[in-house]
Amino acid sequence: MRYFLQKNGALHCEDVALSDIAEAVGTPVYVYSAATLARHYDVFAKGFDGTDALIAYSVKANSNLAVLTLLAKRGAGADVVSGGELTRALRAGISPNKIVFSGVGKTGDEMRLALSAGIYQFNVESAAELEALSNIAAQMKVNASIAFRVNPDVAAGGHEKISTGKKENKFGIAWDDARVLYARAAKLPGIRVQGVDVHIGSQITQLEPYERTIEKIGGLIADLRQDGHAIETFDLGGGLGIPYGDGTADPPLPSAYAKMVRRATDALDVRLIFEPGRVIAGNAGALLSRVIYTKPGETRNFLIVDAAMNDLIRPALYGAYHGVEAVSPKPGDTVSYDIVGPVCESGDTFAVQRNMPQMSAGDLVVFHSAGAYGAVQANQYNTRPLVPEVLVSGGEFAIIRKRPDYEQILSTETVPDFIKNR
Ligand code: LLP
Repeated sequence: MRYFLQKNGALHCEDVALSDIAEAVGTPVYVYSAATLARHYDVFAKGFDGTDALIAYSVKANSNLAVLTLLAKRGAGADVVSGGELTRALRAGISPNKIVFSGVGKTGDEMRLALSAGIYQFNVESAAELEALSNIAAQMKVNASIAFRVNPDVAAGGHEKISTGKKENKFGIAWDDARVLYARAAKLPGIRVQGVDVHIGSQITQLEPYERTIEKIGGLIADLRQDGHAIETFDLGGGLGIPYGDGTADPPLPSAYAKMVRRATDALDVRLIFEPGRVIAGNAGALLSRVIYTKPGETRNFLIVDAAMNDLIRPALYGAYHGVEAVSPKPGDTVSYDIVGPVCESGDTFAVQRNMPQMSAGDLVVFHSAGAYGAVQANQYNTRPLVPEVLVSGGEFAIIRKRPDYEQILSTETVPDFIKNR
């Protein structure tokens, strides 16, 4: 079931015409489908029905409070990587005992915040972090439940900027250091060893790297238990890929992933934790934009739209492909367009030589599969207001992040007296 569909010649999100949203909110704007978010979460969760699994939605993919609240109501936990994300997850009503804290650079303040909240698990990524967490927890007279994020040295494919499970990546502790670090952790005050964590990358399009990882971790869990550690949890991280419509083979469905994981972990006797992000939010959202100008060139036809790389940075940053669709396609021959934004960089290009219906100034387009790592990576480069977000549910929609006006943007900045009085 798709929730971004053409009805009567106009693209809708659920039962709302995207042109109505553009009219009411302006463009560019992110549009999310509540039904899709719910369905993606439910499908993932269903794969683990009847098992003791925690699905800790990876907040970084789309951290809007409305999105988090929707997922919280369906039972999702949260994977957070900062004090800010932790605050969002708690504000959305996600119970602390469903929150895991990942990331290589947790600060003392962030650890204190998470310890006071009483989160379920810290995924510790270095010896230095372990010592810092022990000191802070002991001072606070509480225990931090930890898993080490172990680097399994498995190549998961995908873009090098989002591949994380190889030896040369900054993430996790080295495989060969694991037993020594677990032994150290078991002796430290304020630390309760609880599990093992991995995360091998993002937009993973095959099950095989996961399966190899599980096999390796299974061996480690056995070794650690032999060393006397009670390993209760196995956090497999996130990373399951989604179809971007770029002509490559579709990634495995969440149901196939779940089936493989259940089989491969069956004998491990652990509580499974997952940190899915993209697979929940990616295809639940699109970026809606309006054509400002068309610019026929000698070799290329440019479509200059009002969204830019500051609103959706994935094409510029990773060469990522996003499907583009005209909201009200005109009949007739298609035209090959280069679709670009107004920012003063050549990298501000969304798509190259894309065949589309004939477009004119004022027409609306959407960039698909932009619900994950879209709005969260947006910025105000060129002093373009932070792009707003809209959530659709059935025939209703609501603005869930407002577009700031210029006064609001400037209000956070001050000119010091030593400059003013110069
Ligand atoms: N857990 C950890 C520890 C992670 O680092 C990530 C993503 C996830 C879970 C969620 O992964 P997912 O299920 O969404 O693949 N900005 C990039 C993606 C960066 C992913 C970073 N870590 C992009 O736009 O493709």
